[in-house]
Amino acid sequence: MKTVPAWPAAVGALVVALLVVALLGGCVWDGPMSTVVARSDLARSTLSVYGIITWASAIIGTLVFVALGWILFRFRERPGGRLPRQIHGHALLEIAWTIAPALVLLIIAIPTIQVIFRTQGAAAPASALTVTVRGWQWWWEFRYPSLDVVTANELHLPTGRPIVLDLEGPDVIHSFWVPQLGGKRDVVPGRVNRITLTPDRPGEYWGQCAEFCGASHANMQLRVIVEEPAAFDRWVAAQKAPAPEPEGDAAAGRDLFTRHACVGCHTIRGVAAGALGPDLTHFGSRALFGAGLWTTTPENVAAWIKDPPALKPGSRMPNLGLNDADAKSLALYLTSLK
Ligand code: CUA
Repeated sequence: MKTVPAWPAAVGALVVALLVVALLGGCVWDGPMSTVVARSDLARSTLSVYGIITWASAIIGTLVFVALGWILFRFRERPGGRLPRQIHGHALLEIAWTIAPALVLLIIAIPTIQVIFRTQGAAAPASALTVTVRGWQWWWEFRYPSLDVVTANELHLPTGRPIVLDLEGPDVIHSFWVPQLGGKRDVVPGRVNRITLTPDRPGEYWGQCAEFCGASHANMQLRVIVEEPAAFDRWVAAQKAPAPEPEGDAAAGRDLFTRHACVGCHTIRGVAAGALGPDLTHFGSRALFGAGLWTTTPENVAAWIKDPPALKPGSRMPNLGLNDADAKSLALYLTSLK
C-alpha cells in the first residue's frame, strides 16, 4: 500500500484557513458601510424588516434541517429493511406545504408593506432640509437650494433634522446608497425619486453608487458627514464664503485654470461658471476627491490633473496635456480653496 504524503493536506488546510480569514476580514459589524447598524429612522425601519426576515428564515431553516436529519436517521436503509410506505398524492401534506409557505410570505409581507408606505409616502415636514442629489458619470453633486450651497461627493447633514434628498439623474441610471442612513434608491433620468430620513448622530458614513452606470461605476463613492447643528451651520457659512484668494504658486495656478478648458466644465464662484463637472469653489475643504477615491493632497490632485482617464477609467475629464509644473500649480491652487 502506498502512503499518502501529509503535506498536500496541510497546504490545502492552510489555503482554506487563509481564504476564511480573508473573507471574515471584510466583515465589520459597525463599519462605515455596515448594513446592520442603523443611524437614521429610515435605516431603522428597513433594518426592522431585515430582522424579521432573518429570524423567520433562521427558525424555519433550523426546523427543516432538524427534521431532515431526524428523517435521514430514522428511515436509513437497514439490512433486510422493507420499502417504507409511499405517500405520493397525500392530500393533507400537499395542502399543508402549500399553505405554510403562503403564511410565511404573509407574515413577511405585512411589516414590509407597512414600512414601504411609511417611508415612501411620507410628506416632508416644514422643518426639513432639502438637498438635490445628482448622480453623474461618475461623481455626486449635492445642492442645498435653501442654503445656496453646492458641493460634490461629500454630503454634510445636521443631526436630528428631517432631510429630503431629491434624486436626479442628468445622464444615466445610478443608485444612491448609504447603508447606515438607509437606501438604496435609484437615480433615474427624467424623474425625481425622493428619500426622507433623519440622521441620529454625528459620524462619517460611506456610500456607493449601486447601479451599474459605466466604466467607473465602482469608482463612484460618496461620504456623508453628519454633524451637530452648530457644526453644520459653521460648515454652511464656510461653503457660502467666496473662494479664498490664492497666494504664491497657487495664484499662478488660478491663471492657468482661467486660461485652460477647466472653466468650461467647473464652477469656482467669482472665477468660472462651468456646469458639467464638480463645483470647486471649496474643493480643498473636502477630505477626498475623485468621488471618494483619493485624499485631497497637492500630489494626488496633480497626478489626477495630468491624466484623469488613466486614473479613473472612462473619466469625462480629458487629459489636457499639461506639463508637471502646470499640473502642480493647478493642484496647489485647487487644494488652497478651503
Ligand atoms: Cu453611478 Cu454606478
